[in-house]
Parts: sequence; C-alpha cells; structure tokens
Amino acid sequence: MKVTVFGIGYVGLVQGAVLAEVGHDVCCVDVDPTKIEKLKNGVIPIYEPGLETLVKENFESGRLRFTTSAEEGVSHGEIQFIAVGTPPDEDGSADLKYVLAVAETIATHMDAYKVVVDKSTVPVGTADKVSQKITQVLKERNVAYPFDVISNPEFLKEGSAVSDCMRPDRIIIGTDSDRAEEAMRELYAPFNRNHEKILVMDVRSAELTKYAANCMLATKISFMNEMANLAEKLGADIEHVRQGIGSDPRIGYHFIYPGIGYGGSCFPKDVQALIKTADSIKFDATLLKAVEARNYAQKNVLFEKVQHYFSGDLKGKIFAVWGLSFKPNTDDMREAPSRVLMESLWEAGAIVQAYDPEAMEETQRIYGSKESLNLVGTKEAALRNADALLILTEWQAFKAPDFEFIKSQLKTPVIFDGRNLYEPYRMSSKGFTYVSIGRADS
Ligand SMILES: NC(=O)c1ccc[n+]([C@@H]2O[C@H](COP(=O)([O-])OP(=O)(O)OC[C@H]3O[C@@H](n4cnc5c(N)ncnc54)[C@H](O)[C@@H]3O)[C@@H](O)[C@H]2O)c1
Repeated sequence: MKVTVFGIGYVGLVQGAVLAEVGHDVCCVDVDPTKIEKLKNGVIPIYEPGLETLVKENFESGRLRFTTSAEEGVSHGEIQFIAVGTPPDEDGSADLKYVLAVAETIATHMDAYKVVVDKSTVPVGTADKVSQKITQVLKERNVAYPFDVISNPEFLKEGSAVSDCMRPDRIIIGTDSDRAEEAMRELYAPFNRNHEKILVMDVRSAELTKYAANCMLATKISFMNEMANLAEKLGADIEHVRQGIGSDPRIGYHFIYPGIGYGGSCFPKDVQALIKTADSIKFDATLLKAVEARNYAQKNVLFEKVQHYFSGDLKGKIFAVWGLSFKPNTDDMREAPSRVLMESLWEAGAIVQAYDPEAMEETQRIYGSKESLNLVGTKEAALRNADALLILTEWQAFKAPDFEFIKSQLKTPVIFDGRNLYEPYRMSSKGFTYVSIGRADS
C-alpha cells in the first residue's frame, strides 16, 4: 500500500521503516531539511537498536523515501500518518500546532480520498479538530474530497522501538468508518498474522487509551518511588519489597523499579496533558497530580543524598556521571533525570565528568561547551580524580564494572546509585560507601 508519514522522529521513522520492511511503499515527510538530507545519505539522526540497517536496506530497495515536499507526500499515500511532536504547551496541555499544521498541509494538497491517521499522542477530541481543519481548508479551496480522520496511537518503547513495531502487543484503531477500518486492517495485516491484535473502537476511546496506558505506567513508577522513600525511613529494603510484590501475578515485575524518577518524551508530558484535559472539564485528577508531584520530587532525591554526604559543600568537587539518557538503549535526553541532577550540581559549583554509551552528542547539543561539563569517551575516563561516582542510567555496561579500578580512580570510594545496580553488602565488603534508593546506605 502507499503510505505517507509526516514527522520523521522516533515514532515516524521507526513506523515508516517497519511498514516499508513488510512491503509497503512509504514516503516520509519532515520539515527539517537537515534531517531529510542526512537520511538520504544513510545517516540516522537518532539511536535505536536495529533501526540503521532497516532504514538503509529499505531506502536502497526504494520502498522508503524521504522528502521535505509536503505536496509529494500528500499525493503519494492514501494513508497519511501524522506522527509529529505534541510537546507540552506553556500550561502543560498538549500543543497541537504541529498536528494541525499537518492537517492543513494535507487538506491543501489532497485531490482524492485520504485516511488521515493521528499517530501522535493527542488529547481526546483531537481527531475532531483535525477533521474540522481539513473541512475548513477544503471549503476554502472550494473542493470536496472525502476523508476519514482516525486515531491509531503508538505504543513503541524507545530502546526497543523496532521490535515493538514489528511485533506489537495490540493495534488500536479508533474509527467509525468502515472504509478507513478496512484500509488500516490491510495495512497492518502483516503484523496481525499470529493472532488477532487489532482492537477497533470509537475515536475518543482510542485517544484516551494511549494516555491511560502511559499514566498507568507512570503511576507504577511513582508508586514504587514513594515506597522506596518510605522503606528508607522505615529501615526496610525496597529491593526485597519489590520482589515481594512483583511475585504477585496481579502486580507483576514490570515497571516497579525504584529510581530517580521517570523522564523521556512521553510520560512527563502525557501525565501533565491528561491533568490539563481533566482540568478543562472541571475534573480534579487527584491521582495523576500526585504521580507528577512524586516524580518531580524524586528527581532531586539523589542530589539531596550527595549534598548530605558532602555536608552541602560541593564547590569545585568533581562528579563522575555514568549514564545521561533517560533510560538505556536510547540517546533521548528529553526530561532525563540526569539533567535535573547535573543542573543542581552545577548550581552548587560542582564539575560533571560524564559518560554515556549513546547520549553524549545529544548532551553536548543541549548544554554546549561549558567548563563544568566534561564529556569523556569511556566510563573509566569519567572516574579519573572524581570525588564520587553517580549512576543515573542502568546501561548494561554499568552492571558489573571493575570495582577495584573504580576505587583506584576515585578520590574517595563513594558511589551514589540512582538505579540500585549493586548489592549494598557486597559494596561495603569491597570498601565502598554505597548510597542507593530505598535501602540503607552501606
Ligand atoms: N518517542 C516515543 O517513544 C513515543 C512513543 C509513542 C508515541 N509518541 C508520540 O508520537 C509523537 C511523535 O513523537 P516523537 O518522539 O517521534 O517526536 P520527535 O520530536 O522525535 O519527531 C517529530 C518530528 O516531526 C517533525 N515535524 C514537525 N512539524 C512537522 C510538519 N508540519 N510536517 C512534517 N514534519 C514535521 C519534526 O521536525 C520532527 O522530526 C508525539 O505525539 C509523541 O508523544 C512518542
């Protein structure tokens, strides 16, 4: 099938490449000419396991093409995906200007029936707004082409986006149009062979499902962080508690790791946006507000521990930082807890010596060159002459390091671990002061 994807970010690029991989003919449109030029030259602008090969192979086969020409994109596909960003507005609600800009573009150039698919995460009622925009532009053009606007939220996880898209748990299609439903069923048939994964529902339910999923996951994390803070005060060990509750199949082990707060491009903004949606209809979303407040506070927890340990005197101290991305296997730094922590350290006059397997370039792009940020090429180099080691992202490469080497490099053997990667008793037997989350310091 001929498909167009507007917005070639984490979602659009992966979605486009995966659809091309199964044989569809995909045209990817983005307003960023540098990004499109890079993609045409085989340079993948983001890090996502498996993505580079997928993009290159499908680009070479001709099934995946990149353009900045909206006109070309609109005329290409009967199915038009909108996968642009929906960042938070000043008040925290989802900013729909990019989504509506694409709707306008589609309406400006369309000359036949189109299925317009909201793939971006958008508040309930957005499909109606997209429909209104298209109708308005068609009216201005004095033409009347048929179209359907449907909701098809994306559930991929950064870090495993390609496999999530290749093997989705569910495919949600929000529409009441038989024609659009049939087009989407045909599009997704290659992903639906093993068992039925397509759930068709009304548009508003589909839109809310995406927010409900992310808010549920954010709630699990904030709940665990609250338990971790409690455990610390009560003299319990959150890692025992985690296993104790995770073994209950009604709770499960997923998403109950305590840490330094959730980040990324989705949870923070989606929780905020749903709170705003609730506010707009005078519904007080008390639980969601608490989830957000806990997360905000949790991003400061490790800094407070550092401050406490050094009696508030961080001026001129050097901190080795392992991990910058908001989670492993991505270079995404959006809302990463590392940013809050580094900014607090800088404010206190400290120097950060950091390493991340993938997010160094992005960190450099965000902060530019500054004396108090030293990005180094290996995790070992980050340790040199540092006053302490801070672990902020649970990359595999940090899970079993050479502790003797760490000790030999640090001025004092102290580790602040925001991800609970090690056993406190082992760390104390190796001679470290080890400060983690929701457990007694050792
Ligand atoms: N990143 C994720 O893990 C994830 C997962 C599920 C859903 N989502 C949702 O998907 C949407 C996109 O997220 P993302 O992380 O891929 O965003 P992103 O910021 O990585 O990419 C968005 C892209 O859209 C482009 N763009 C903006 N306006 C455009 C226009 N008028 N025409 C064409 N391109 C345009 C930008 O240049 C950018 O390349 C968001 O609503 C997000 O909430 C994201």
